[in-house]
Amino acid sequence: THLNPNASNETNESNETSSPDFFTASFTQNPYPVYEKLRKDDPVFKVMFPSGEFGWIISRYEDAVQILKDPRFSKDIVKRYGTEGKSIFSKNMLFSDPPDHRRLRGLVQKAFTPKLVADMRSHIQSIADDLLGKLPSQEKMNLIDDFAFPLPIIVISEILGVPLEDRDQFRMWSNTVIEASTGKNEELFQQHEREFIEYLTDWFAKVRKDPGQDLISQLVIAEESGEQLTEKELLGVISLLIIAGHETTVNLIGNGILALLEHPEQRDLLIREPELIHQAIEEMLRYNGPVEFSTSRWASEDMEFRGQQITKGELVVVALDSANRDEEQFKDPDVFDITREKSAHLAFGKGIHLCLGAPLARLEGEIAVSTLINRFPNMKLQKDVDTLEWRPGMVVRGIKEIPVLLK
Ligand code: HEM
Repeated sequence: THLNPNASNETNESNETSSPDFFTASFTQNPYPVYEKLRKDDPVFKVMFPSGEFGWIISRYEDAVQILKDPRFSKDIVKRYGTEGKSIFSKNMLFSDPPDHRRLRGLVQKAFTPKLVADMRSHIQSIADDLLGKLPSQEKMNLIDDFAFPLPIIVISEILGVPLEDRDQFRMWSNTVIEASTGKNEELFQQHEREFIEYLTDWFAKVRKDPGQDLISQLVIAEESGEQLTEKELLGVISLLIIAGHETTVNLIGNGILALLEHPEQRDLLIREPELIHQAIEEMLRYNGPVEFSTSRWASEDMEFRGQQITKGELVVVALDSANRDEEQFKDPDVFDITREKSAHLAFGKGIHLCLGAPLARLEGEIAVSTLINRFPNMKLQKDVDTLEWRPGMVVRGIKEIPVLLK
């Protein structure tokens, strides 16, 4: 997949990476010691990805900012591979350079302005209350499946206007696409991608006949006018929103609550001083950000960067979770401190591709975390933290299941 053509946790021994522990399962469980070493010894680190392509991992904060803002690092898949390819994702703002990027982002931006998002507060609050009210047991739950996952899904499904009943399918398709970065199951990926495309194409046809107020209807109308959006772009943009909506905020909530459970004094502080919630969310994003490897860029020309010779066509991947623990940028970076002053973390990226969904993700995170800790102040992990399993793949960083005792 183009979404992350570059990373795997699975293929280690046979992989010719120069760092033996880079793509291992223990890396997935805790990448921070490896990142620390990279920042110190190999901040611009050459690696051969399982796809056979050479590329670079950028681990320092300052370099990350520079790369994310430098237009010589292109995201445009068509320019790189010479073809749009068949992939559902090959045409959207995340994989375009200006001017296409500006046009595609502009069409969607209107739906995610801070003002529009802020107006959704009471509705998102009622979704959160509802989910917690309907738990099968008030004694325990799986934080991911019962709460962190459904909340953002309900919200994004409503914004897009797709039926909530189909959410299990969306989840399956999104997970396959994200985990395809492990290179494990190409056939399954293709099958799910085909189903995803068919579903969306049918849905667009239905919406075309009877458009509503939702975002898909607005984009379908833009596509029909012929000038702003092609059918392929429509598919690319909508599938990106569905995947972004399914794979990111869930992990902000999951990783964030986990950090509070591991640091009960921080949780108690947040219960005592609820106005700290904004800073707490920023610290959660910094401490264990949901997007680990910002989707790759590639060098559009030969260049020297920090003394390394980067060749035209090579991939460059920014390790956001490493940049966010850079000791040059953050004091005591491994300490989880919800009173940390405004931290300028990179969890939402930087530059023209800065996350479009950031205002929504922040609001969902705030509501989810506050509601949960106020309702269940004594919540505890049901398992030892070291036995929790982090999801494979290196695009998103999140935990598969978090069983908790609520009382
Ligand atoms: C882009 C992170 C939630 C939509 C990005 C990028 C990052 C990111 C790092 C930039 C990638 C790059 O530069 O290669 C996150 C995190 C989230 C989150 C950490 C949750 C905590 C969302 C949500 C949506 C969304 C909820 C929409 C529903 C997008 C879109 C882009 C994007 C459309 C592409 C923007 C562009 O290329 O101009 N996100 N995201 N994200 N995100 Fe998010």
